Amino acid sequence: MQPVEIKKDIFWVGFVDYDHRDFHGYSRSPDGSTYNAYLIKDEKNVLLDTVASGCEGTLLCRMAQVLEPEKIDYIICNHMELDHAGALEAIIERCKPEKIFVSQTGLKSMAGYFDCKDWPVQAVKSGDSINIGKRTIVFQETRMLHWPDSMVSYIPEDKLLVSNDIFGQNIASSARFVDEFGDDGEYTRRVKEYYFNIVLPYSPMVLKTLPVVEKLDIDMIAPDHGLIQRGEKAVRGIIDMYRAMAEQKPQQRALIFYDTMWESTETMAYAICSGLEENNVPTRIMSVKQNHHSAVMTELADCGAVIAGSPTHNNTVLPLMAAQLTYMKGLRPLNRIGGAFGSYGWSGEGPKFLHEQLASMNMEMPAEPVKCNWRPDHEALKACHQMGVTIAEALKKKCQG
Ligand code: FEO
Repeated sequence: MQPVEIKKDIFWVGFVDYDHRDFHGYSRSPDGSTYNAYLIKDEKNVLLDTVASGCEGTLLCRMAQVLEPEKIDYIICNHMELDHAGALEAIIERCKPEKIFVSQTGLKSMAGYFDCKDWPVQAVKSGDSINIGKRTIVFQETRMLHWPDSMVSYIPEDKLLVSNDIFGQNIASSARFVDEFGDDGEYTRRVKEYYFNIVLPYSPMVLKTLPVVEKLDIDMIAPDHGLIQRGEKAVRGIIDMYRAMAEQKPQQRALIFYDTMWESTETMAYAICSGLEENNVPTRIMSVKQNHHSAVMTELADCGAVIAGSPTHNNTVLPLMAAQLTYMKGLRPLNRIGGAFGSYGWSGEGPKFLHEQLASMNMEMPAEPVKCNWRPDHEALKACHQMGVTIAEALKKKCQG
């Protein structure tokens, strides 16, 4: 239960949750997550964020290695979602802080979760700062990143940004820093997974926030989930990745996601894939039975074309496909080309439903839905292959455009 000193007298005191899978009730974190909290030892001792409920014992234990928890003067709540504030009541009870800082909007979510009328709460806004001795803490609101109450805390003397949800990843590991993790590919994948399952709908706010962050003199970003970015390369890397993910420029890759009943729709997926691949569009096929909806969204991060397949089932589509589409639509992907396909026995509404769903996400739909009766024959597979070719041509044009 040791803290980790990330800067002189600034300590990571969080919780690594190796068993955590169901993140925020909708996203899956296959390898757990972390709730990072930070303690600053100064003339005023400050705790930045807490951890999820049930993890307060570990938080207090780590804090106690630095100073007695009762010596905490200030608690900063950058965001009131319960992965950061679930332990707040217990920590306040133990530390009895002189002040608790939260954004103006955070007052509402704090009151919604806690009986906080007797807490010494002070609301802050962008540009407000507090002096804690050798250091200053400057607050910057980051509304909708990830909730209306979200803010970040900047400590100029240490060139440190405590960024809460922004720049996080769901990683449970003994490593605290990106450079200790030793797997750049996996780190990048976890950044994309986190962004495309949580932050994506708020991309316009990301694009407004990045110039504000770039104006700050920063050599370390300490998010509340996953690994800390230290040094110019890691800091620049995460900012550039965020800009690229928020801009969602089309990329020359395709994702085919599908469900199947008697393998006809699956066979069609492979024929569409061959039409794409033969036209230089690398393609990933994902069964929604075999892949969680978060994994499908993560794959979409690098795919400019999104093609959905389902057999017709009860005049619509199989339920896992309906769920995947609902999840995808809520996350608001932009700048994609879509396509729809599926087999049917007698009514055949499935592909049309998929087509309409993708079109409602503002995807360009260059091909009519392809459907085949019962089992796909040579002609049906040719039509699927042609759909792959048509989408590949449209995507390449879009990427050049
Ligand atoms: Fe990590 Fe929006 O909470």
